[in-house]
Amino acid sequence: MISLNTNLLQKLLSTYGPSGHELNISNLITEEIQGLVDDIKIDSLGNLIAHKKGSGPKIMLAGHMDQIGLMVTHIDDNGFLRFTNIGGISPSISLSQRVVFANGTIGVIGCEHIDSLKDLKLEKLYIDIGAKDKNEAKEMVSIGDTCVYYNHPIIDDKKIISQAIDDRIGCFIMIEALKLLSNIENDLYFVFTAQEEVGLRGAKTAAYGIEPDIAIAFDVTATGDTPKAKLMDVKLGDGPAIKIKDNSILCHPKVKEYMIKIAKNNNIPYQLEVLEFGGTDSGAIHLSKTGVPSGVLSVPCRYLHSTCEMVFISDVKNTIELTKYILENNIEI
Ligand code: CO
Ligand code: ZN
Repeated sequence: MISLNTNLLQKLLSTYGPSGHELNISNLITEEIQGLVDDIKIDSLGNLIAHKKGSGPKIMLAGHMDQIGLMVTHIDDNGFLRFTNIGGISPSISLSQRVVFANGTIGVIGCEHIDSLKDLKLEKLYIDIGAKDKNEAKEMVSIGDTCVYYNHPIIDDKKIISQAIDDRIGCFIMIEALKLLSNIENDLYFVFTAQEEVGLRGAKTAAYGIEPDIAIAFDVTATGDTPKAKLMDVKLGDGPAIKIKDNSILCHPKVKEYMIKIAKNNNIPYQLEVLEFGGTDSGAIHLSKTGVPSGVLSVPCRYLHSTCEMVFISDVKNTIELTKYILENNIEI
């Protein structure tokens, strides 16, 4: 089995990149993949598009670079910051977390006095950056600045824990699969997308420009394997999840069947995913122009959109291998 590129993964998980501020991530990825592709460009929305030319069908791979964040809306006289959400931010998860801004300013999230947890809303929360008053706070941050949850990633023998697994793990899988490719006929577009968390925006314009014949997105999905979880037949450790549907897409049956066939032929474990909420880049891509047959490979992930998103290393490695085989074969749609 392949070994895990822990060094690259650590970097991807610890680099700042909320929606709309993907440049640090696209620079890191460019450094990693230049030389492995024929052409790299960044488009006007901030998508990183890497083209590995081939004579076969045009396949677009998409994994989003952005992570959820919090944007400053108001600075009060005492130097406390109020904020709005960039993507799916939950008040209960945010309480007592550390956050970091692009310029390195670190803060913590506090809450007004409330009598019941039922009153815990984003409006009740504030960010404390340790400023003595409004003027000092304004020297550290401005209205419109965005911060992200701040914790060092954990990678042990079995699992990975980080607030940025969604979806740096998808970017990581695409990069590591690209490195393994040899003798490819397919015309491959590796697209590291911008602004997924605010509504699949980067994927939409990238797909319009590329006009792919087939698309596959790489992202995380929820699981049903924790105590009294909502019913869902996806588990950590059972391999990559081949998506059937989520709220943004009914995956193309032929793309899904092709991925299942490749997994079976290469003895890679897989599971089938029916996600009853959420969506990912394929949701936008499959509706581009006259439509694009699309599928999704998901890494099972517990505690989505929290500071302790968790995946198993075995699932990550199996997804990289499956991706390599998917790209090396002829997809017939
Ligand atoms: Co997400
Ligand atoms: Zn995601």
